[in-house]
Amino acid sequence: MRRLDNPGVLGANMILCIAVGGATAPALSADPAQLTATVCATCHGADGNSSDPAFPKLAGMDQEYLLRQLKAFSSGKRRDERMVGIVATVDPDDFAGLASFYGQMKPMPGKVADTALAVKGKAVFDDGNTDSGVPACAGCHQPDGRGNARFPRLAGQHQGYVLKQLAEYRSGRRATDPLMTTVGMRLTEEEAKALAEYIAGL
Ligand code: HEC
Ligand code: HEC
Repeated sequence: MRRLDNPGVLGANMILCIAVGGATAPALSADPAQLTATVCATCHGADGNSSDPAFPKLAGMDQEYLLRQLKAFSSGKRRDERMVGIVATVDPDDFAGLASFYGQMKPMPGKVADTALAVKGKAVFDDGNTDSGVPACAGCHQPDGRGNARFPRLAGQHQGYVLKQLAEYRSGRRATDPLMTTVGMRLTEEEAKALAEYIAGL
């Protein structure tokens, strides 16, 4: 099989080869820099800091966390039509390289739109809500929101993306971790909005 100059069309080409040749083509490992530039950058930004709140910033997130999420989209444990479609075109052998590539990029801060709301969010982030049993986010995600391999970085993430994830843990649509399902179920809509506002400015 001819090696393509543009790995973005690799998936389609492999399917074509299988259809024509009838044999399974050997997996070609793509260069993460090229693969991200051609496949991922449209949504996640050229530097891993997307400008559209529908798409999460990936820059500076722990590579083990990113790898777990790519595998979760691939196995169907995490559902999102766009990402499920994308991972299906990528060779699973390339997941680790992609995760490491984004992990090394520099995260850019987000923008707080409502400072009064962010102050309310900080209270829940640092101390939780003892009445409803919400644990302090800082306890797992770190006081500065930078996270680690187990607990993802939240600092600077888009409000819209954070809100969507909290709603999905609450509804059970994102079932990648029982800890966050519990957290999501205990948060009120108001608390979630305030937290997303605070997290954007971390
Ligand atoms: C068509 C737009 C689109 C493209 C292209 C795309 N993504 Fe995504 N990606 C998304 C969306 C939307 C989400 C959020 C899904 C959700 O809400 O659960 C996401 C989420 C992710 C996440 C989870 C982040 C987190 O914080 O949990 C990772 C990792 C990821 N994408 C990696 C990639 C990689 C690597 C590529 C290229 C191979 C890629 N994406 C290409 C739209 C895209
Ligand atoms: C007991 C530990 C723990 C606590 C407390 C906790 N989290 Fe999490 N959080 C996690 C883990 C683990 C994940 C990764 C889950 C996964 O793989 O889906 C996560 C993921 C997330 C995500 C998804 C990140 C992404 O990039 O998609 C958001 C948003 C989030 N947490 C917000 C919060 C907020 C807000 C609070 C406080 C109200 C909080 N978490 C408290 C453990 C925790």
